[in-house]
Amino acid sequence: MTRIEWTDEYKLGLPAMDSDHQQLLELCNQFLEAAQAGHAIPQLAALLDQLILRTRAHFLAEERLLDRHGYPGLAIHKAEHERLLTQANTLKARYDDVSQEDELRHLTGETADFLQSWLLNHIRTNDRPYRPFLMSLS
Ligand SMILES: [Fe+2]
Ligand SMILES: [Fe+2]
Repeated sequence: MTRIEWTDEYKLGLPAMDSDHQQLLELCNQFLEAAQAGHAIPQLAALLDQLILRTRAHFLAEERLLDRHGYPGLAIHKAEHERLLTQANTLKARYDDVSQEDELRHLTGETADFLQSWLLNHIRTNDRPYRPFLMSLS
């Protein structure tokens, strides 16, 4: 499980959003490292909880910002946030039912794949388009 590296490709040039995104990426990395180090289920579940909580706060802040400026793609963007949170919560719930070592390995692998793509794909394909919109207002 490799660390997710922040690159300028993900930078939107909006300091509040960039710093949120970097923090979320760091939380993803904390989970990946803990999983790799073989930490126990409650610790992994707690890290995921924290990530989900922080993600929800970021999504709300982002939605408020976009709403304030009348972003036309807000409804679609909100639905995408909702979908990602549902996926993350579904994965997280599965940690409650894991008891066997190989099951846990499978689940952490699946979680790692998910974390490595969800946030970065979302920033690249869903967040990026609001940048020119917000920039055009100032
Ligand atoms: Fe977003
Ligand atoms: Fe975002």
